[in-house]
Amino acid sequence: MAAYAYETHEYDVVVVGAGGAGLRATLGMAEQGLRTACVTKVFPTRSHTVAAQGGIAASLGNMGPDSWQWHMFDTVKGSDWLGDMDTMEYVAREAPKAVYELEHYGVPFSRTEDGKIYQRPFGGHTTEYGEGVPVQRVCAAADRTGHAMLHTLYGQSLKNNAEFFIEYFALDLIMSDDGKCQGLVAWKLDDGTLHVFNAKMVVLATGGYGRAYFNCTSAHTCTGDGGGMVARAGLPLQDMEFVQFHPTGIFGPGMLITEGARGEGGYLTNSQGERFMERYAPTFKDLASRDVVSRCMTLEIREGRGVGPNKDHIHLNLSHLPPELLAERLPGISESAKIFAGVDVTKQPIPVLPTVHYNMGGVPTNYWGEVLNPTEAEPDAVVPGLMAVGEAACASLHGANRLGANSLIDLVVLGRAASIRAGKVVDAAAPNPVLNTASIDASLARFDALRHAKGSIATADLRLEMQRAMQDNAAVFRTEKVLAEGVELMTAIAGKMSDLKVTDRSLIWNSDLMETLELTNLMPNALATITGAAARKESRGAHAHEDYPERDDKNWRKHTIARVTGAKVDLSYRPVHTEPLTSLADGGIDPKMIAPKKRVY
Ligand code: FUM
Repeated sequence: MAAYAYETHEYDVVVVGAGGAGLRATLGMAEQGLRTACVTKVFPTRSHTVAAQGGIAASLGNMGPDSWQWHMFDTVKGSDWLGDMDTMEYVAREAPKAVYELEHYGVPFSRTEDGKIYQRPFGGHTTEYGEGVPVQRVCAAADRTGHAMLHTLYGQSLKNNAEFFIEYFALDLIMSDDGKCQGLVAWKLDDGTLHVFNAKMVVLATGGYGRAYFNCTSAHTCTGDGGGMVARAGLPLQDMEFVQFHPTGIFGPGMLITEGARGEGGYLTNSQGERFMERYAPTFKDLASRDVVSRCMTLEIREGRGVGPNKDHIHLNLSHLPPELLAERLPGISESAKIFAGVDVTKQPIPVLPTVHYNMGGVPTNYWGEVLNPTEAEPDAVVPGLMAVGEAACASLHGANRLGANSLIDLVVLGRAASIRAGKVVDAAAPNPVLNTASIDASLARFDALRHAKGSIATADLRLEMQRAMQDNAAVFRTEKVLAEGVELMTAIAGKMSDLKVTDRSLIWNSDLMETLELTNLMPNALATITGAAARKESRGAHAHEDYPERDDKNWRKHTIARVTGAKVDLSYRPVHTEPLTSLADGGIDPKMIAPKKRVY
């Protein structure tokens, strides 16, 4: 192995990733005076949160009656009763506060006539515990809400003296022999130097792994880097079989068309011009939950009612809406439709298809962001020194299916919660840990081996094999046979990782090596997804199993825990937290309201 010198940096907290969750955690840590660094592989305002369009859910009640209890109920129902009740209560209760905090930090929300934050309807968000009309709960900055949030949070983090290490690629966690996280090793992409970050707390905020699939709304940077690092550290991933398909990715390129389009009055039609959602979800129609709408669209296509020459997609209609409304509330998607589908939304429908959008699964945490390493005896055992937030984590706010706009609120409420917890457990006056050099050496050896990989398969080719296998075998609808085939295929594909070929040996801007490192992260995420899906013999949320079409609470209301070593995945299970934080007597939600029942919209 080549000898690699590295520079060591010491901080109280190192956050990896500068999307919404990473920046909110960074800001919260820095505000408390903790010495905080944020290590990010892209410039902060280019993180994938920039692509979040429709908004952030919070029961402000600006447009009509709403309550945190209704928000919690909708989240519980959306999760198909797999979410953890403590997390769901915490987020629904804290959401309004978190949004006002964003407003005060400077997020330029759209406004109502009387100057309040504008809120729009979104799928699965209702009134009266699902019995009333759709609620306008989603706070929006036109259809560029994530963009507005990122810029504001980055500015606030700088103002509070957080330090940014931009275009540094995190390679591996540094773990002590007794299982504590002590920091991480990173590669600086623009000059090829290596860096060791010694930290009392590492926070993974690395986003999802949408790029494990061929077609997704996720940026090319969404490669599950946190999940990869965690798996290599011998820690588990949770509920990875639950992959969300957004109903309206642009047919072909997959760019997101926000659910806000349907929130503002858009609707889906099939080849007969029929508003088919009225048949499947008579009450909430196009505003049913995402998993439901994606399945209905897939069924329409399967039954021959898709649009286009090959009847393989669906139309999203907006042309009946006033052009001024489209210009004011949906300018971004009007432009995307023009650029990526050649469609003028004031005159023509947008061709759309359910597209991979979000990972409900991730690194298991409690609602304070502390990473869990469950055992049978201790299902909520915490890994000292390690937190995870945002899409990289599984807190589990979203359970088996996330409601639209609950992602942005997850980022800020739980990003902030992680900083509150770190404020309690990180001792700023204590010395930094004495680093386990064996852990650093192992990371550098892995880096060197990949840099000099002389196998026969190009990274791009193996990645494509993985993406196609995942797209075909872990899709909207799944069967026993297709999933079993998927496990076999993915095991074989992962087995080829040792035969990778990297042609560029340099250390500066070596995208060949970076994409290879990313593939080493995507692979355990993908393996855990397909294996967890093949094992789960029921249908719940985004996991629609045609051989087991019903939800089975007796046997399967439990979290999947996947430990990935090479191409091998070991599964175990962990109980769902079924108790909310607050009893009814103390002002909590009525437990009758959140008891499992059939999920209809
Ligand atoms: O449809 C959207 O605007 C996406 C929002 C989300 O995933 O939360």
